[in-house]
Amino acid sequence: MTKPVSAVERRTVLLAGGAVATTTALTGCVIKQEAPPVATQPQPRVSSPQPESPSAGSEVPTDPPLAQVADIPAGGGVVLKEQKVVLTKDGSGKIAAFSAVCTHQGCAVTDVTGGTINCPCHKSKFDAASGERVAGPAKKPLPSVAVVERNGAVYQA
Ligand code: FES
Repeated sequence: MTKPVSAVERRTVLLAGGAVATTTALTGCVIKQEAPPVATQPQPRVSSPQPESPSAGSEVPTDPPLAQVADIPAGGGVVLKEQKVVLTKDGSGKIAAFSAVCTHQGCAVTDVTGGTINCPCHKSKFDAASGERVAGPAKKPLPSVAVVERNGAVYQA
């Protein structure tokens, strides 16, 4: 035997059903505005060319250069304190690079004069072209640093 539905219960059910119907109708309207059917409006398959990176297709290193070749005096050199590298250039323009840390007790070399790389601490001197020790208490040469020269600049390799 079924229980008779009161007037209040029937009204509640009808209002709830109306709210669901209204929500569904509004939701359907919003969906039509925001998301058109994909099947009726296919997206074009046009691709724009991607911009090339500055180094794409070239062999120029992207790191900042150690120095410009023109800034290295012929027959002398420059000491790069931050990079702890000394760059030298002979009379023909050949570039060489060495550690700027003296092999005696680790002081930083400070200058390249008279064909030698010079340490101020105990007066060791190293050949500017080869890094070999030529004077002072140091026993070992300055280690070479691999560099490449491109487009007028010197880069660490
Ligand atoms: S640390 Fe360079 S000569 Fe001693």
